[in-house]
Order: sequence, then structure tokens, then C-alpha cells
Amino acid sequence: MLDRLDSLLEKAKGALEDSRDLAGLDEWRVKYLGKKSELTDIFQAIGKLPGDKRPLAGKRANEVRSALESAYGERVEALKTLQRDAILQERVDVTLPGRPIDAGRLHISTQTLRTIYDIFAKMGFQVFEAPEVETELNNFELLNMPAGHPARDMWDTFYTTREGVLLRTHTSPGQIRAMRQFCPNPIRVILPGKCYRYEQVSSRSDFMFYQVEGLAVGRRITLADLKGTMIEFGRQMFGADRKVRFRCSYFPFTEPSVEVDIDCILCGGKGCSVCKQTGWLEILGAGMVHPVVLENGGYDPREFSGYAFGMGPERIAMLRHRIDDIRYFFGNDLRFLSQF
Ligand code: DAH
Repeated sequence: MLDRLDSLLEKAKGALEDSRDLAGLDEWRVKYLGKKSELTDIFQAIGKLPGDKRPLAGKRANEVRSALESAYGERVEALKTLQRDAILQERVDVTLPGRPIDAGRLHISTQTLRTIYDIFAKMGFQVFEAPEVETELNNFELLNMPAGHPARDMWDTFYTTREGVLLRTHTSPGQIRAMRQFCPNPIRVILPGKCYRYEQVSSRSDFMFYQVEGLAVGRRITLADLKGTMIEFGRQMFGADRKVRFRCSYFPFTEPSVEVDIDCILCGGKGCSVCKQTGWLEILGAGMVHPVVLENGGYDPREFSGYAFGMGPERIAMLRHRIDDIRYFFGNDLRFLSQF
């Protein structure tokens, strides 16, 4: 029995030296120290020896087992060190450029919105949010466009299956909500958000886009206040020496109504393809809040007046960055989005 133990020890140690990797070592452990190993057989055989032979054989078997266990432990450590050294000796070329990290960024529309918020915040405007799903009442009726009003044709509308509920076609219905919330106090808010139109999608119009509405209501607010605010906005957004021009226009919810242009940022007013040879670029619509709208918001038009304006951040970004197709904005093409 003792001889068998000695030769087992010898054989196992030799095999351990031959194991070159951790997988091989594991096989070795199963073979020599596992439940079905020769050593287990020997322990079982020792149990059947005559009483006087048992202690010596048992002692020797225990010695062999602990010798194998500690040899195994050492060998594992040695192999791990070897592997670590091999990794450390791999050459690292510290002059290679690092791997680029793709940082996320804000969407160009969000960046433009934030610039608009900043400009108006400095002039005392707070942000007021209104829902994208609106009533026909707020979107049209209370903005001075009763059912059948021809001006409703200016906005191709997504109606929902619920009678009188639609996707807002502009941010103007937020004016009614703001007025009803703040009445009878003065108001100075901008209302940003998404709008939806049942449009033929083209390079100039998409079915979903942002708008930023503005609304100021108070006593003795005049067209001069609107002009000053728009000139300041035009210059902050497009450059300090911009010229700002007001053209007569028509919106049912303002009277008088205007459209605001800046001199072309490309040709400076000489005429080019971007401004279609006019020298001017339209940036927004505006006007003095119509008395009917003021009244619908809860204000007495004999005491209060106000101005309102509405602009498209995508259109503004297109002008600022010379983007020629609005479909890029929500087309989710990273080659476009990552430029901003
Ligand atoms: N709601 C208009 C549109 O979508 C834009 C607009 C024009 C808003 C004049 C206004 C305004 O507040 O006064 O075309």
C-alpha cells in the first residue's frame, strides 16, 4: 500500500509539471484529487486493511494528499504569474492615437430652442408649456377662427377620432391657456413645443416640427414694444448688425399682423439664391393680440393689450446653418445630426 502511495505521488507530480495551462490543471485536479481518483480508491482500500496496518497507511495517504494539494496550489499561482508576465510583455505603442469616444450631443432643434430661450429669458420671458393634443376650440375657435372660417385652410390638420380633439397645428392655442391661467395679471411668456400638420412632406415642410410662440399681455403694450422685442431677437439670433423689417400680413388672431424679415445673412441684402433675390429672409409671424382673443383669454381689451409672435426653430436653424432640407431634422441620420 505504501509503495502504491509513493508511485502515485511520483506520477501525479510529473503530470502536474506537464500541465501548461489552467484548463490542463483543472483536469489534473479531477484526475488526482477528485472523487473518482486513485487516491480515493486507496483510502477506501485502507479502510479494509487489518487493524495494525491501518494507522501507518492512513498517515501516509494523508501526507500524499496534502502534498498533492499544496503542489497543485503552487502550480496554479505559478501559471497565473506566467500569464500575467506574458501580457505585460506585449508591446504597447504609446504613440498610437487613442480610440475616439463618441460623445452624445443635443439635437440641433434642441440647441436652437435653448438659444431662443436664452434670448427671451434676458428680456423677461418665462417658458410656458402647453399640450400637443389640443381642442379644436383652443386651436381655432378661440383664436378667432370659428368653424368654417376660411383661414383654417392655412393649417392642414390631423384630427383625432375624438370629436373636437386634434394635434395642434401651431403653438398659438397655448396663448389661450396662458391667458386663462394668469388673468388678470400681466403675461410675458414663450411657448415652445411640437406642432403637427397634415402636409405633403417636402424639403420645406414636414408633418412634425417645433414652434416657439411668444405672448405679452399688459396695460399700454403697443406695436412699438413688439418691434423692439423682434429687432432685439433678430440681432441676438442672427448677428448684431442685422436689419429687421416688418411687413403687413394677416393672421386671424392678431390685428394688425406682421411678418418679420431680416436682411439676408448670405448676401447682406444684395440678392442671392437663398433670399430668392429679394435681399430679405422671413423669420416669423407676429402682431397685436386681437381683442376677441384677449377677451377669450379673460382680459378686457379696453384695459389690456398685448402682442404675440410665432416662429419655427427648424426654419431658424436652416437659415443659420444653411440647411436646405427640413427633412434632415427628424430623419435621424447621424451624419447630419453629428455636425452640430
Ligand atoms: N401660429 C402662426 C403659424 O403657425 C404663427 C404666428 C403668427 C403666431 C402670428 C403668432 C402670431 O402668435 O402673432 O403660422
